[in-house]
Amino acid sequence: MSDYKLGFTTQKKEIQIDQLEVQGTIPDWVHGTLVRNGPGQFEVDETSYRHWFDGLSQLHSFHISNGAVSYANRFIRSVSYEEDNANGKVNYAGFAVDPCRSLFKRFFSAFIPDENPRPNANVNITKIADKYIAMTEIPMAVEFDPKTLETIGVVDYDDDIKGQVTTAHPHYDAKRKLAINYVLNFGPMSTYNFYAHDGNTRRLIASIPASQPAYMHSFGLTENYIILSEFSFRLPNIFKLAFRSVPFIENYEWMGQEDSRFTIIDIDSGEVVTQVNTDAFFGFHHINAYEDGDQVICDISAYPDARLIDQLYLDSLHDGNAPSVGEFRRYTLPLNGGRASYEMMSSESIELPRINYSHNNGQNYQFAYGASSREGQDDFINQTIKVNLKDKSTAIWHEDNCYPSEPVFIANPSPTSEDDGVVLTVVLDTAKATSFLLLQDAQTFQEIARAYVPQHIPFGFHGQFFSN
Ligand code: CO
Repeated sequence: MSDYKLGFTTQKKEIQIDQLEVQGTIPDWVHGTLVRNGPGQFEVDETSYRHWFDGLSQLHSFHISNGAVSYANRFIRSVSYEEDNANGKVNYAGFAVDPCRSLFKRFFSAFIPDENPRPNANVNITKIADKYIAMTEIPMAVEFDPKTLETIGVVDYDDDIKGQVTTAHPHYDAKRKLAINYVLNFGPMSTYNFYAHDGNTRRLIASIPASQPAYMHSFGLTENYIILSEFSFRLPNIFKLAFRSVPFIENYEWMGQEDSRFTIIDIDSGEVVTQVNTDAFFGFHHINAYEDGDQVICDISAYPDARLIDQLYLDSLHDGNAPSVGEFRRYTLPLNGGRASYEMMSSESIELPRINYSHNNGQNYQFAYGASSREGQDDFINQTIKVNLKDKSTAIWHEDNCYPSEPVFIANPSPTSEDDGVVLTVVLDTAKATSFLLLQDAQTFQEIARAYVPQHIPFGFHGQFFSN
């Protein structure tokens, strides 16, 4: 079970194809562009990036219109991409790269020396006002042209909201018409600074102190609350960041004896409503969260510890060691005191979770989609799932030699149910050494069409669909 290594193999070829070969029939209402982000290059000449999260960002776009699909891919012209390729070696400080030129030294200095820093924004995509941007965990987003995928430049905010680390998973609060995210500001007392972005300016919502900041990749949002889930993977001493020459993520420690903690913050007042502890755990992705009387329900793709981060080093992946995949845990957070407990919502594992976001984020919901690894198989992500949270039943899509990525749910514009839509997934077919875009009916989870790309697409992280 090591075929999946093709997904961690560089794809240097930037192509543009007007019409992919399509099998099956794509519904007429599916009209728009799926833009995906992820690493496209894992080494420069003889030197390699060390971690999956450090590969050089490559954007992929699938434009769907009248049943036809076009495709393009293009690297972000980040400083790392241009300088490393020009110099013929890896030389930048990312998630787990040796900090030859430490970004964290920059964080502690009063200025950023580069005129145009352009980070390796390889995690996610979003749209703020009219700008399409690629994001990573350094709070500098990179704007790109959605048609050509050309890099435009860094989106910078001239305001007082300061921090050195962010999440590439902002939430959109549909009721208040605000994007919400935080920046973690390191200092003698570090703070998670939550802000709201109305499309023009950013406004500080809440500043939550953190004596030992946790590594977090996402957070939860309900109708009235932000849910900050501080896992037990923490920075014991933030000053080490400034003085030790250790890659960013290797400064964090797993503290399995210490509780993890949910902080529930009122969006309107910025007040902390309550903090709820639970046994130590780790996760990257919140699935959804919602209020239910005097408790908050918080669904997370969860792990018993943070070993997954080590399992995602490229050496380990190239050796064929399959990483673990999270459990679908539903945490119940009491608002009036007491610890949080969880129940499992599926017998299948789940990662890269998606929901019908525009209709159900922050609300009680019935369906979640995700990538997963087949039970009992020591393999990389090799199936996608649809979990029915009412009865905990799970539908599965799987095909031999196929490795899917994040399944993105697209709602029918005139929906009759929560799952009325299609699911778009980029799948690597290792037997054919190519990738294809899989379209499934979200209700039945059956394939309706696929569109073949004439080359392989390395495993990516996240994408967004923008309807026309
Ligand atoms: Co993510």
